[in-house]
Amino acid sequence: MKKHIIVIAGDGIGQEVTAVGKQVLELIADKYNHEFTFDTALIGHAAIEATGNPLPDETVTKSKASDAILFGAVGHPKYDNDPSAKVRPEQGLLGIRKALGLYANLRPIKLFDELLSASSIKAEILQGADILFFRELTGDVYFGEKGRSDDRNTAYDTMIYSRYEIERIAVKAFDAAMTRRKKLCSVDKANVLESSRLWREVVQEIAPRYPEVEVEHQFIDAAAMLLIKDPKRFDVVLTGNLFGDILTDEASQIAGSMGMLASASVGDTTGLYEPIHGSAHDITGKGIANPLASVLSVALMLDISFGLKTEAEEVVSAVDAVLKAGFRTRDIADKSTPSENVLGTQQMGDEILRQLKG
Ligand code: NAD
Ligand code: IPM
Ligand code: MN
Repeated sequence: MKKHIIVIAGDGIGQEVTAVGKQVLELIADKYNHEFTFDTALIGHAAIEATGNPLPDETVTKSKASDAILFGAVGHPKYDNDPSAKVRPEQGLLGIRKALGLYANLRPIKLFDELLSASSIKAEILQGADILFFRELTGDVYFGEKGRSDDRNTAYDTMIYSRYEIERIAVKAFDAAMTRRKKLCSVDKANVLESSRLWREVVQEIAPRYPEVEVEHQFIDAAAMLLIKDPKRFDVVLTGNLFGDILTDEASQIAGSMGMLASASVGDTTGLYEPIHGSAHDITGKGIANPLASVLSVALMLDISFGLKTEAEEVVSAVDAVLKAGFRTRDIADKSTPSENVLGTQQMGDEILRQLKG
């Protein structure tokens, strides 16, 4: 199979973890006789430095013409502490999601048994947890009108959803529930927010088309609590852009670390595959970032964009095997991990590649 992949590594540890993800793609191509060609494109702080624009036109053009995008992260401390900055790395990521129509962000919470003790949650609460989040990605308060009053002392962001935006992601989530345990939890704040009342109305309208799917609605505050209290009660979780952003960082603790959570952003055009974590300035350049979220994002790409199920499963199995062999990056190591098993980013990548070579 011939595929053209754009690597948009971005900022901070995005560069470090994406390098490993790309090596995995190269190895899979080699092993299964596929022809994967690669190109790179700029985004975020790296793009601002080079061009003044967090999302150069060329990045969008190349992405649209590709078969899939392997994405790293955006962000720089300079902007995090400067609320007045008009041009920001994150605009690059939001811009590419919008430009490519990537309205559905799939965030699987996959708990590898070997990492039961890496989580701060009790093992008996966690064991068996398996959740698939559908986070709406191109609407909500992220993209509604925002601004400041003339005296700049009042600011607003508009939480806004239209029926079609809710419908199209809800259908994807219901379809996924049919292939899983047939449970769907829609999360909103319909007791307060009008946009959430529309959200709930639309989900309720769609539900009868899927009589086998057991549907529940939870408010975001209760959902945040239930996720930690009893993660096993969830199968598919459907929610908006902001609530999904927050809930999935919380859910990363079910999988043990932010460094374990992959995602697929899909919609109208080319799919984009990225860890849910950011550029992690606190560990950038130290070579200790966990690359497994990028590796698992590659597995999602192989499966969803290329339909290469065997190859995708092999990548997930390689992660499992490396964890079973006792190797850890620092974020997923615990007291029982021997120091020689605590690996850096590339070393962990090398172990994955060794597994894949067989
Ligand atoms: P973050 O996800 O970058 O980091 C949160 C914490 O998790 C940090 O302590 C970090 O060291 C740890 N962590 C994250 N990924 C890890 C990995 N692979 N291995 C080991 N530890 C890991 O979130 P933040 O600190 O809130 O944000 C930093 C910057 O990243 C900000 O500028 C933010 O805007 C940006 N950001 C970008 C994305 C993205 O590009 N998708 C996502 C979130 C945050
Ligand atoms: C994510 C990030 C982004 C988001 C930021 C960097 C724009 O937190 O991908 O989860 O909020 O969507
Ligand atoms: Mn986030």
